[in-house]
Amino acid sequence: MRDILIAGNWKMNKTTAEALAFAEEVKGIEAGDNVDLAILAPFTQIGALKDAFEDSDILVGAQNVHQMPSGAYTGEISADMLDELDIHYCIVGHSERREYFKETDADVNAKLKALLAKGITPILCVGEPLNVRGMGGHLTHVGVQVHLDLAGIPITDIKNIVIAYEPIWAIGTGKTATPEEADMMCGFIRGIIEGLYDDVSAERIQILYGGSMKPENAAELLAKENIDGGLIGGASLKADSFIELARIAAESVK
Ligand code: 13P
Repeated sequence: MRDILIAGNWKMNKTTAEALAFAEEVKGIEAGDNVDLAILAPFTQIGALKDAFEDSDILVGAQNVHQMPSGAYTGEISADMLDELDIHYCIVGHSERREYFKETDADVNAKLKALLAKGITPILCVGEPLNVRGMGGHLTHVGVQVHLDLAGIPITDIKNIVIAYEPIWAIGTGKTATPEEADMMCGFIRGIIEGLYDDVSAERIQILYGGSMKPENAAELLAKENIDGGLIGGASLKADSFIELARIAAESVK
């Protein structure tokens, strides 16, 4: 049995004051057995959220890391710096970073390795654009991403990685993949993990769905065999909907 992870990706939203107001409303949530809850915040809010969630069931993570350990990379944040903040998760390879900041699969692979070396759990994002799905190339596209992004990562580390399938056409569009489409892709990714590693790794790895997930559609997505949680953008910004998602997750434990 795999835990369900509800991870809010706040993207570039909220000031620290707004983050603390949110924390005040949600910090009493009891995650329950086999549910993990996390907020993946902008760097500037991480310290304040760590304090605010100290005695709560909500974990804190970042949205990006630089792959180099230190050096002349103005504006960037290293895995060492994140480690010092004692965060649990860090998103890697979100489609917005791949598109707007030209992150390559080689960058994503190096970022995964930098985080794993510090014991921070990467949430690796993969997913296809609309035109690729339109041409029927989505499995190949995601399969290539998974292979390239995990290159050289040993079996001892794969259990410390979460994967999120986020079809780009479903992000922020209100258009969700159907539960069947999302489950099929998450199962396909699990099959790749079995091929690259073994059946125990495939059985254990958490694979999330992301893309316009919200309280209204979460239950049917989380009911699917291969979907172990959600990476949630817009619907994670409001305390009441995050609380509702946590409640739905607790009811969806398989
Ligand atoms: P939305 O939930 O706003 O579609 O965003 C999904 C996402 O990109 C999470 O990383």
